[in-house]
Amino acid sequence: MSNIILVLLLSLCCTIHALPSHGGAEVYVHAGQSIQSAINAAQAGTRIKVGAGTYAEQLTISKDGIALIGDGATLVPPAVPAVNTCTGIAGGTTNAGICVTGSGIELAPFVVEHQKVLSVEKPVTDVFITGFNVNGFDGANVLVVGGEDTRVTDNNLYNGGQYGFLAAGSTNTVVSKNNVVSEQSLRYIAICTDNFSGARVVRNHISGYSVGLCVQTSGSEIAFNEVTNGCVGSFVDPNVNGAQVVHNSFGASNPACIGQSPIIGGVVIFAADNTNVQSNVIRDQRAGGVAAGIILVDALEFGPDLVANDNKIVDNVLVNNDYDIFVNTTGTGNVIADNQCTLPAELCA
Ligand SMILES: *[C@@H]1O[C@H](CO)[C@@H](O)[C@H](O)[C@H]1NC(C)=O
Ligand SMILES: *[C@@H]1O[C@H](CO)[C@@H](O)[C@H](O)[C@H]1NC(C)=O
Repeated sequence: MSNIILVLLLSLCCTIHALPSHGGAEVYVHAGQSIQSAINAAQAGTRIKVGAGTYAEQLTISKDGIALIGDGATLVPPAVPAVNTCTGIAGGTTNAGICVTGSGIELAPFVVEHQKVLSVEKPVTDVFITGFNVNGFDGANVLVVGGEDTRVTDNNLYNGGQYGFLAAGSTNTVVSKNNVVSEQSLRYIAICTDNFSGARVVRNHISGYSVGLCVQTSGSEIAFNEVTNGCVGSFVDPNVNGAQVVHNSFGASNPACIGQSPIIGGVVIFAADNTNVQSNVIRDQRAGGVAAGIILVDALEFGPDLVANDNKIVDNVLVNNDYDIFVNTTGTGNVIADNQCTLPAELCA
């Protein structure tokens, strides 16, 4: 009996499409229907396909194994914002377009960038988001907080106010093959993965953000991305240990960065340790003489111990930058070798 009622309820919002082999249901959302209603009605493990059309909604996903699959679907902010776990994480009253959230999340107060996650009682696992266009949310277009094994692949994330994509307090997040673009003005951060552990950010295309790739997860892999038209291609934060920044391409910086961004360059290692910056191509980092392809510096203004140690900068190709490599650290064990570059001659020999 209750199954029949469930089916009737589901059919109000969605067409039951097929029953895939892994046991979860599959539902279809059409233009004019609510994606969130479909998520609310879904069991864990459901694939939710969303047809072509514009949907003015914020989405909250807190069930394990939900796959949200856009097929020409565009998500834009609703007239009246909804409040969920992601509200305010990127500051003020900002909201996320898609909020993937665990439960029992304890957040630190907002200081800069985004609220840090202090603890997560129960993560949400195996959420998958693909094929979506998400446009113009004032916080992050997609925000993952307390997620485990979240995958965000092949989406177009346009004009996210503070972030295109942000993961915080999450484990094993994969962000791949997304277009993350700010169209008119320079916006803040395209993709940021902020601990707990494990993050892969690969093959994304990024343009128009002050910081393209914000690296705040120790051991994370940042590979094969293409970043242009921003101020810093990839910024590795203090105390982040063992990040891999490899095989990326960093192109021309945005002229609006001059006077606006305190630091302009392709890869910045800011008092991080054991970073591997290898096999990247970095060109056209120019800002009247102060930009550099790769910057390795301490962060003593934020703490006496914030020194860059044991970083490796090898096999990169640097072309047409104000400076190819700029190093100013009192740290030890840093290796700079085998880069194709010209300035300064002593680091490029
Ligand atoms: C995550 O970030 C917070 C805030 O920066 C830090 O206190 C915490 O130690 C980090 N956790 C891990 C596992 O790196
Ligand atoms: C190098 O770093 C020290 C300490 O942070 C700073 O005082 C100095 O101005 C820096 N040098 C250059 C050339 O930026």
